[in-house]
Amino acid sequence: MFSTSLALAGLLLVNTVSTFPAPGEQQAINNPEITIIEPEFSLTSTIRDTLVANDVIGDVLDDFEPSYYIEVDYPSSHEKVLLGNDIPVDAVSKRPVFNFYSINSPSIEAKNSTFTLALTDPDAKSRKKPKWSEMCHWILTNLTTPIPEPPPEIHAAKPGEIMEYLPPSPPPKTGAHRYVFVLLEGDSSNLKAPDDRKHWGYGKVRHGVRDWAEENNLKVVGANFFFAENEKQ
Ligand SMILES: *[C@@H]1O[C@H](CO)[C@@H](O)[C@H](O)[C@H]1NC(C)=O
Ligand SMILES: *[C@@H]1O[C@H](CO)[C@@H](O)[C@H](O)[C@H]1NC(C)=O
Repeated sequence: MFSTSLALAGLLLVNTVSTFPAPGEQQAINNPEITIIEPEFSLTSTIRDTLVANDVIGDVLDDFEPSYYIEVDYPSSHEKVLLGNDIPVDAVSKRPVFNFYSINSPSIEAKNSTFTLALTDPDAKSRKKPKWSEMCHWILTNLTTPIPEPPPEIHAAKPGEIMEYLPPSPPPKTGAHRYVFVLLEGDSSNLKAPDDRKHWGYGKVRHGVRDWAEENNLKVVGANFFFAENEKQ
């Protein structure tokens, strides 16, 4: 988990630098004597490989080509979601703030589409016994890109929040749960919340965001996740 996060941090750094060169770096690019090392990896495949390695692609989502990176921060605890890092439960009690970026184009794509962000737990009650899975923790619709303002981190409901943020609270002795943020693209003007958080209302183990997205003609374009476990194991 740790090495992935580190690699990702590196990727994002490289990505930021190559996308928005600072004045000094711009000079370096124009100077033929200085070699700029081009990244040989792609953020899309790094994200996809990590999702596959942790069975997020499989248990939660069908295989897909990530075209957006979702940045998620919990500002009050200074924790950041980094593709499978461990975050303490008490650090995620308030709504996170987030943004998402198109990976393949240097600037944020000007597209006339809307997005929906969901948070789901495929490991309720535990990864070994997912009898309540998936548990729906959050759904925000009507998101556009770029997002002008981060959503408020306070508990007030906001337009587009069709499922209120339920802070992750894995029960004692149930191991680490994967908490998966999923970014969906498609018409979100008329979305309804699932009937229930448990199984996203579908009444079957391991049913959830995949079914809901399909039912509402939404396309999965990005995902990010963290691990959290109860202190009592
Ligand atoms: C963008 O979407 C809105 C709402 O769906 C629609 O009214 C508008 O015509 C679209 N604009 C373009 C340029 O496609
Ligand atoms: C999303 O936007 C549409 C059209 O702008 C609006 O009718 C709808 O109520 C919004 N949904 C939510 C949950 O705020």
